[in-house]
Amino acid sequence: MNTTPLLHMSAISKSFPGVKALDRVDFTVQPGEIMALLGENGAGKSTLMRILDGVFTPDSGQIFWRGQPVQIRSPQDAKNLGISMIHQELALVPYLDVAKNIYLGREPAGLLPGTIDWTTLYEQAHQQLARLDLDVDPRTPVRDLPLAQQQMVEVAKALSLSAQLIVMDEPTSSLSNAEVAVLFRTMRALKEQGVSIVFISHRLNEIFAIADRVTVLRDGSLVGSEPLQGMTADALIRMMVGRELGETNQRPAGEDVQSQRQPILEVRNLSRAGILHDINFTLYEGEILGVAGLVGAGRTELAETIFSVHPPTQGDILLRGQKLRLRRPADAIRAGIALVTEDRKGQGLFLRMEVGANISVRILHQLARFGLIRWRDSQHLAQEYVDKLGVRTPSVRQKVRNLSGGNQQKVVIAKWLTLKPQVLILDEPTRGIDVGAKGEIHRLMRELASQGVGILMISSELPEVLGVSDRVLVMRGGRVVAEMNPRLATQDDIMRAATGAKTS
Ligand SMILES: Nc1ncnc2c1ncn2[C@@H]1O[C@H](COP(=O)(O)OP(=O)(O)OP(=O)(O)O)[C@@H](O)[C@H]1O
Ligand SMILES: [Mg+2]
Repeated sequence: MNTTPLLHMSAISKSFPGVKALDRVDFTVQPGEIMALLGENGAGKSTLMRILDGVFTPDSGQIFWRGQPVQIRSPQDAKNLGISMIHQELALVPYLDVAKNIYLGREPAGLLPGTIDWTTLYEQAHQQLARLDLDVDPRTPVRDLPLAQQQMVEVAKALSLSAQLIVMDEPTSSLSNAEVAVLFRTMRALKEQGVSIVFISHRLNEIFAIADRVTVLRDGSLVGSEPLQGMTADALIRMMVGRELGETNQRPAGEDVQSQRQPILEVRNLSRAGILHDINFTLYEGEILGVAGLVGAGRTELAETIFSVHPPTQGDILLRGQKLRLRRPADAIRAGIALVTEDRKGQGLFLRMEVGANISVRILHQLARFGLIRWRDSQHLAQEYVDKLGVRTPSVRQKVRNLSGGNQQKVVIAKWLTLKPQVLILDEPTRGIDVGAKGEIHRLMRELASQGVGILMISSELPEVLGVSDRVLVMRGGRVVAEMNPRLATQDDIMRAATGAKTS
């Protein structure tokens, strides 16, 4: 294969204070290729892509575009070359419609100066959407679209800028399986049109399903670039972590947890008008209760109702047999209930504050009621949890916004663990977390359970639900529609219950 690569990043290095994020990394993408970029949390993937997008300047190294050396000093430079980024946090304007978002700032001019040719705008938007095989009305406000379609609007926008290379940094982490399928169809269509894609994901099955080649980074260094054909998942994981991973199944064999233990949380006839319908279940001491279901099944709403973000319209919540009167999350926290949300940026973290402060903020709140707290103690505490969860950071003084996505998630979990809750609700706890760290979080959950904590784990990843839970509830349409024993149930069983398909 002697074609000139579309993109060649050569010997790229980048350091941040206390971190060598990239060390002479080479990265090459061929025209019309889907290149996966893989590595543990903090390996340097997003940093490499931000250099390509002109957000960061490399300390050294050179970028070649179609064989020519180029300087990319800003995202605008990158766009002018034909490079588009689709970030995990979408950059659309929610209240504007699809067409206006695609052509924001580049609207076709009308006949009179300063006017916009709306007919052409909608016509062109329609064509871009058709190119992606997308059945979306260009007049729909973006906020009314499901997340996957919003992402497609970003793709359409990239295409309208004649992007030759589209970088997707963890585009699938908040999509349902069906939405991932739609995204993949779009990616294949782009590839056929000669567009190249860099695809970042922690889900190996997705990488095998869609990518042609994979580039693996470890600790800021290039491990290698390989075609995926003929590669096994084990080989890929070895490249990524540099060692074999232990058993991921964290469930203790054979024992039936709920038969021996005390109920810790009881949910009775819980309803929220139009959202949750008559939910009943019991969580036992030391149990990990998995909650499966499709996006929109009501799982997050259930978690938020138990945590009193929203009041139920009916029903009771009992903690160790006592009926709780919860009006707001602070009441739930006081009762010993913690919720780790799926949206770490929105609710979980103070990005501008240090790791240490983020971890100890909750407990400080509590301790403050008893008077004096020493700053040094809070730093020790933070360090203890950083070690326990393997958060990769040069120190607890690092600002959270400077951590990689997966390590930010670990900080959210650490923050709640400092409260030593009796009931821990985890909403998608390992989303965006690499396979190695995933195992660490599962082990930690198991350890907490063995200390008697009751854990409610919402997860869209069926292997996780089946591998980690002692018992599984399946939700659909705001109801609990099935309870399963993960030792006997299969992924198919869960999917059938979650979609309401008939058993064959
Ligand atoms: N602006 C910054 N200031 C300081 N350190 C940073 C900054 N951006 C990234 N880092 C550090 O650089 C390293 C690489 O981070 P990067 O975000 O590239 O990882 P990643 O491979 O994308 O991880 P993830 O899978 O968790 O998203 C990490 O140690 C991170 O903490
Ligand atoms: Mg990243």
